[in-house]
Parts: sequence; structure tokens; C-alpha cells
Amino acid sequence: MIITRRRFLQTSSLVASALAFGSVGRAGLPRTAREVAVLDPKNLKPFVDPLPIPAIARNAGLRASPTNAALQIPYYRMEMRALETQVHRDLKPTHCWGYAGSMPGPTIETRSGEGLLVDWINNLPQQHFLPIDHSIHGAEAELPEVRTVAHVHGARVPPESDGYPELWFTPGKSALYHYPNGQDATALWYHDHALGINRLNVYAGLFGAFLIRDAVEDALNLPRDQYEIPLLLCDRLFDQNGQLHYPVSANAKSPWIPELFANATLVNGKLFPYHNVEPRKYRLRVVNCANARYFHLSLDNGQPFQQIGCDQGLLPAPVTLKLLSLAPGERADIIIDFSSNAGTQIVLKNDVLPLLQFRVSKAAVKDTSVLPAALRAVPKLLESASVKTRDLTLEEVDDLVSDPVSLSLNSKHWCMPVTEDPVIDTIETWNMINLTDDSHAMHLHLVRFQILDRRRFDTFLYQTKKIMRYTGAAIPPEANEAGWKDTVRADPGMVTRIIAKFEGYTGRYVWHCHILEHEDNEMMRPFNVIAAPIAGTT
Ligand code: C2O
Ligand code: CU
Ligand code: CU
Repeated sequence: MIITRRRFLQTSSLVASALAFGSVGRAGLPRTAREVAVLDPKNLKPFVDPLPIPAIARNAGLRASPTNAALQIPYYRMEMRALETQVHRDLKPTHCWGYAGSMPGPTIETRSGEGLLVDWINNLPQQHFLPIDHSIHGAEAELPEVRTVAHVHGARVPPESDGYPELWFTPGKSALYHYPNGQDATALWYHDHALGINRLNVYAGLFGAFLIRDAVEDALNLPRDQYEIPLLLCDRLFDQNGQLHYPVSANAKSPWIPELFANATLVNGKLFPYHNVEPRKYRLRVVNCANARYFHLSLDNGQPFQQIGCDQGLLPAPVTLKLLSLAPGERADIIIDFSSNAGTQIVLKNDVLPLLQFRVSKAAVKDTSVLPAALRAVPKLLESASVKTRDLTLEEVDDLVSDPVSLSLNSKHWCMPVTEDPVIDTIETWNMINLTDDSHAMHLHLVRFQILDRRRFDTFLYQTKKIMRYTGAAIPPEANEAGWKDTVRADPGMVTRIIAKFEGYTGRYVWHCHILEHEDNEMMRPFNVIAAPIAGTT
């Protein structure tokens, strides 16, 4: 196995974001994307379509809870189907896949501790419309082309409802999952997780938001109803006919590409939409649903905004930002105050590209919502309480000309026996040792965690002699990461340390990079939460 340094792609720094942006139109696009006539979104008129707000999913009645037959809980039917959607006024409808008739799917909204059932129904066609790489583990040619399994990202669920990547099902089949929602208010999101083709299923459109509310959030009097807006961001390539294009490598036997970076960004399924707002506070629930892109969001007038929550809930206090970085899978809960912008237009940008235009009315409004100084206590998980530390390497496997052929975690393949097996209710520290030249968005299912620090190290010494020599000081998490997380940016040449309590359920889950091209090609591993040994038996 050859692990080499390849290229410097994306980190959270401004310099790197400029590089990443610069690569969009040039080297960053995979070869074949330039060969196919890809649509240049700069030729489309911006801000001609209103921002779609995904509908709130409506349940199809009540059913007995699987854990308490006396309790009736909402039952949802989420049917996956092929559909056509208008991503821009001047484009033909785009063929895509969606849940319950839309892309993104409707928002599932619930309250902490109130369980619900979702019947995930696969009514997709028998054939995929995006290029499958049959050389990837779990996507072999003899398997059905269209396989899906839904996962609610960030949900604390029993293993049988978590959407284990091998538990996929084919068109005509469905799976009934139970979400107990025993966790704090936050924005989760659901998306497909089928082994070996997840990047294609999500790219096709299989994702949506899942909001959990609770009394702590209610008491804060944050902007709500029409003043609270989910923003699901993802980049896509379109051909000249406005159809989704997913590029392939130069190798016909192995069409997998290491990252999908595209030149067009959909906001709730539209290309640079606009949204009419009042001169007051708004709460935006931003979700990075992209396959591989790290977003770097700002307002074009340079105005600051406040981040009040991250992946797993509210931060201890608002954090003032002018630039918000979000890795794939991450969420940010932000407040933008338009009260001094009456009569103006403000554009939300990713790097220098426009994403969404806010048209601020001149209406006199009375904004009774507040931005509290204190939000929610986030008790620190103490390193002294950690019973185990795991060193976990993030690796890229290259061919002889240094093109990546796959990635891996701890030099292990997906199908090898489980090596991470935390005991239920114990605290562990996981050191993500990034030996690659790219940032990876590391995600654990089931648990929420805290970031301890990131620290630069001598990668060469580590790769050749397995000796860890730090070359920099430990850097604490940024203020807007200093809450409960489920996805973390693990930057190149750094050890990123996280600490988690493995609570909730025992059983089989997964941890992986949320760059979906990486996840599909071996950068995912199972983990087992195991029962505590019975005292006296060991
Ligand atoms: Cu967003 Cu394994 O999930
Ligand atoms: Cu997840
Ligand atoms: Cu990765």
C-alpha cells in the first residue's frame, strides 16, 4: 500500500478557501467534467427564483411505539421516487430523486423525547442514472443497481433503525425505523447511506432536514415560524440540458473520483434563489449536504452574524462571525439581524460566489424575538474521565502516479473485523491522525462528542517509524465548535482529538469521513458499542 502526500485542497483557513474556490473552474474539476459540456452557472441570471422552503412532513396517522405498545406515536411514510425539479427559471426541469415528492425532502419536525416512526419506501426505478463503480466494495456488478437505506445523521437511535450501510433495500421494498429522539433540540438531517453508492444516491437528491425541538430552546424566544429557515446546501454539476452530471475518472473499469466538487450550489434545491425578508432577526438552520465541498459562508456587505448552535445543539453563548466554515455533514444554527438593512439586498456567499439573495423590505416591524447572551450549558467531558484512547489514522491509498485509488481508516478495509468497541456509558478519546493532504469530515453515528484540540505533527516520522512527534501547540476548538458535535474537520498533518461518551444503545454503528466519495471507497468502519462486563465475571 502506498500512502503519499498528494495535494493541498481544503482547510478552514481563508487562504485555503481561496485556493479551493480557484480550483472550481480549473484544476479542481475532475478531467472528465471539463470534457463533458458542463453548464456554467455564471451564464444564468441570478436571483430570479424564490427560495423554496421544504414542507414540514405530515404524518400518516399514529401507530403503537415499538418500545411501549400503549403509546401511540406519529407514523410517517417517506417514499423515494424519481422526480423532476426546476432548479432555475431558465433551465429545463432536472431529473433527480427525492423523498416524499421533493428534493430536498420535507422537513421532519419533532420534539425531544417524542418518538416517531418512519417507513422509508423505495419506489425508485430499477436502474441508476449516475455512474456506479462496480470495483468498489459493496457495489459489485452482480448486486442490484438501485439500493437505498436511510440514515438520520446525528440521531441517537437503536442500531436496527440507524440505516447500517449493508441493510439496503431495493425498489419495491421498505424499512420501518423507530426514532426515539432522546436528545437535545438541534437540526439533524436524513440522507441515504447505501454501501458503495451513497455518494450517488445523495447526489441524486436523497436528503432532507430533521429538526428536534425542546423546552430549553422554546424558552429562549428565538426567531420562529416564517422567521426560521432551513438552508440545505449542496454543490452539483449540470449539463447543458440542466441535467445532473456526475463525472467519472479516466479509468472505465474504475469510474470513482476522489471528490465531487461542482460549480453550482443548490440552496434548498434552487440555484441562487432570493428570499424576501423583513428588517428583523432571522434564524437560519444551515446544513452542509454536499458530497465533498467545505462551505465558507459570508454576507456580501461584510455584516457579522451570530452562530448559536452547532451539530448537536445550542452553543453555550452566541459566537459572532463574519465567515462561517462548514464541512460536509456539519450544521450551523445562525441568527442574522436585518434590522439595519431595510430596503437593501444582501447576498449570502460561498467564497466569492453568490448563493442566496435576501431582499429586505422597508416595512416597519416589531421584532419580539431575542438573541440571548447565554444559550445552553455544555458541560465539558473531562479527559480524566476517559477510559480509553484510540489512535486512528486517516489515510489515502495512491497508485504509482499518486492518484488516489481509495482511502482508509487505520489501514483497514470496511469488511475487516470490528476494531473499535467502546463499552456502553464509558468515555473514550479518539485521536484522528490525518496522514493525508486533505481535510476529512469525520463523523460518528449514535454519539455526540466534543473536540479537545488539534495539533500539528511530523507525518513523515509517524509514517516511517510510527513515532508521534508534535510540531506545534495544541489548538483548542474554535468558539463555534465548542459545543456538542457529531462531525469534525480533521485537517491535514494534524491530530484531531475528540472525546465522547458512548451512551444510548449497544450494537453496531459506523464512523466515517463525510466526504461521500471517501466514505464509499473504504473511509468508513463499523464500531460496536458493547455491554458493560458483568461485575465479577472478568
Ligand atoms: Cu451523515 Cu453516516 O452519515
Ligand atoms: Cu450520521
Ligand atoms: Cu475524507
